[in-house]
Amino acid sequence: MLTIACFNLKGGTGKSTTAINLGAALATSKCKVLLIDLDGQRTLSFGLGFDGQTPTAIDWLTSGEAIAPIATKTKNLCLIPGDIGMFRLAASDDLFTPSLKGIRPLDFNIVLLDCPPSLGVASVQAILAADRVLMPTLCEPAALKGLSEAIGLIRDDAPDKPIDVLRVRYRRRLALTREADDLLIGSAEDLNYRLLYSSIPENIQVAESIAQQVPVLEYAPKSSGSAAYKSLAKEVSKLWKVK
Ligand SMILES: Nc1ncnc2c1ncn2[C@@H]1O[C@H](COP(=O)(O)OP(=O)(O)OP(=O)(O)O)[C@@H](O)[C@H]1O
Ligand SMILES: [Mg+2]
Repeated sequence: MLTIACFNLKGGTGKSTTAINLGAALATSKCKVLLIDLDGQRTLSFGLGFDGQTPTAIDWLTSGEAIAPIATKTKNLCLIPGDIGMFRLAASDDLFTPSLKGIRPLDFNIVLLDCPPSLGVASVQAILAADRVLMPTLCEPAALKGLSEAIGLIRDDAPDKPIDVLRVRYRRRLALTREADDLLIGSAEDLNYRLLYSSIPENIQVAESIAQQVPVLEYAPKSSGSAAYKSLAKEVSKLWKVK
């Protein structure tokens, strides 16, 4: 069972949207996926129509018992919903490693942890316990400062953690995008991350699908956003050797 922390220090970079839609794309290719919403804002839970349901991420992390994830309407896609209590989560011991051990590896091939945009307990422990980090970023020179800071902070505690950077809300034709692309390609070696080949275009149907509470693959299967998340799922399945 592979565990991926979906993280960026900056807010609004498409972490939750990516967790939902990459999760759904992997699930449609027969991979058994568990999404865990670690953010008190609960965008991921809302985006799948399960906000307010239990057991939540707090139950998973603090009850000391194995809990049953909720099956979503998408086959092979399960969820542990978020909890407003995540804003207050405090812990000095590692809550994540034992909680991840409580998930039966036979039930899931991959766990996607949707982190909040901060380096609080949830994000730090999730990143340390995860096998890899997936870092969605906007492709604008200003956003890249936040990206290098986030990577620097991860490197302080986890120098060898593999980090894959994903360009989201990508607008190919803009000069600004090309400038940011050059910077992203140029700093990959120095900062020790991999820039994923797939990118997710700016696509209104992706944003609408969150409000409609279904993955974009189901809401608008022919949209550019849906195609992009399918390509991403193919790319990471190979790179990460998802069973
Ligand atoms: N490909 C896309 N095209 C258009 N809009 C998008 C796309 N991806 C995400 N969005 C929109 O961008 C906004 C931020 O997305 P999202 O909530 O996934 O970011 P986040 O990084 O999880 O935010 P936070 O840091 O607050 O947790 C949302 O309004 C979402 O609908
Ligand atoms: Mg989010």
